[in-house]
Amino acid sequence: MTEPDNVVQLQRVSKAYADGQIFYALNQIDVAVTRGERVAIMGPSGSGKSTMLNLICGLDVPTSGSVWVDGTELSQLSDDQRTRLRREKIGMIFQSFNLLPTLSALENVSLPLRLRDRSRREAEKRALELLERVGLHRQATHRPDEMSGGECQRVAIARALIFDPPLLLADEPTGNLDSASGKGILQLLDELHRELNSTILLVTHDEYTAATCERMLILRDGRVAEDRLRATGGNDPSPEDA
Ligand SMILES: Nc1ncnc2c1ncn2[C@@H]1O[C@H](COP(=O)(O)OP(=O)(O)OP(=O)(O)O)[C@@H](O)[C@H]1O
Ligand SMILES: [Mg+2]
Repeated sequence: MTEPDNVVQLQRVSKAYADGQIFYALNQIDVAVTRGERVAIMGPSGSGKSTMLNLICGLDVPTSGSVWVDGTELSQLSDDQRTRLRREKIGMIFQSFNLLPTLSALENVSLPLRLRDRSRREAEKRALELLERVGLHRQATHRPDEMSGGECQRVAIARALIFDPPLLLADEPTGNLDSASGKGILQLLDELHRELNSTILLVTHDEYTAATCERMLILRDGRVAEDRLRATGGNDPSPEDA
């Protein structure tokens, strides 16, 4: 079982790959994340950070151990149920935005609702509210190639919020952005965390980004090398110093 307040819980989770010999991308990981927590996941390249996020969002399955998201153990779900959980309970933000290039900002954001058979009118109304929330009302009709990197990432964040998910997963969300746009994205995530009490797991290589989170989890060779709380605010991502 899992504690009711845990949005994410990994219990002795391993992910092994067999190429010649067995290699553990994750090795017996135990992690629990409570509602409203912000966790920076750090560690060297290849230490298992993306693997961990992929297991939490059900894009990948563990070799052993169990993964719980918002009270549900993922291995109990069918593929369809897992896809639905990912779409509706988890907002995902990637380094490379993953927007559909031929769709406008409004269409990209409203697409997940359209895929759930909501009317165009309802979906676009909600998408417009979210675009407004991330400061992109004016760009609603723009395609990704007509927006800056920072704007594309804002669209991706608006899309991630379309189902009011209890969990946001971000894999190097500022990795492809210049530092001013990156700070803007961190500030937006900070505001969303305050308004929505979102639980955020954020993979980053960068200390500045990690400092926006109260908790830091460092992976090394597929194991949790360090897991500690720290004070935030020392690195307020305010736009003035962007
Ligand atoms: N499909 C696969 N087959 C074999 N090995 C894999 C596979 N996917 C990932 N790995 C290995 O698992 C390890 C962890 O990969 P992962 O992508 O989680 O690292 P990461 O911490 O996110 O690194 P980075 O900071 O470079 O993004 C790496 O050594 C990688 O080569
Ligand atoms: Mg990675």
